[in-house]
Amino acid sequence: MKIDILTLFPEMFDGPFSHSIIKRAMDKGLAEIGLYNIRDWSAGKHKTVDDSPFGGGAGMVMMIEPIARCIEELREKTAYDEVIYLSPDGEMLDQKMANRLSMSKNLLLLCGHYKGIDERIREHFITLEVSVGDYVLSGGELAAAVLADAVIRLLPGVLNDETSALSDSFQDNILSPPVYTRPSDFRGWKVPDVLLSGNDKEITKWRYEQSLERTLKRRPGLLEK
Ligand code: ADE
Repeated sequence: MKIDILTLFPEMFDGPFSHSIIKRAMDKGLAEIGLYNIRDWSAGKHKTVDDSPFGGGAGMVMMIEPIARCIEELREKTAYDEVIYLSPDGEMLDQKMANRLSMSKNLLLLCGHYKGIDERIREHFITLEVSVGDYVLSGGELAAAVLADAVIRLLPGVLNDETSALSDSFQDNILSPPVYTRPSDFRGWKVPDVLLSGNDKEITKWRYEQSLERTLKRRPGLLEK
């Protein structure tokens, strides 16, 4: 899968994509991330990418021209399954959306800043708007990194144990059970006996019950889904 990201701050992605599972996915050639600085598509001498809003008001708006030129150029090389704008107005990212997007071959993510992007970009280029939560971030970059991470870890071959993505919290609208590792007794805080019993059937049953209990207590709304 290829994910192209349009941003004014490509350096913000240095961290999230250079470690652990996502880095390994890229090293294995399972995921490819292209970072494009929108400023490079600005025609002006001063490489301007924002301007004040028509009608007045505070804040700056990202201009249509550099973004349009950038998207159009990239679209000449790549057919995108979705052109996504990260925005608090968007459809909420959840596991179901991550699963669906993980079937894509090419995604384009557009990160906004300031007061937002010229509305005509949304009307004419964007096929999906995605929010990562009901709060406002200072830009779309962290949201794009969250989306990319949630999608890339689902690609076949990315996780060592193929079943581990399937048993994630949310994959069946149910939270994961508690997990423990050595030592079995730390300062008298003991691991539940059943996990040390070696009885696989009992362990599976216990885990399922714990998952249900935890979901009922913490996120009952998930069970209604
Ligand atoms: N940009 C700013 N806030 C955001 C959010 N909550 N989700 C996605 N993009 C955003």
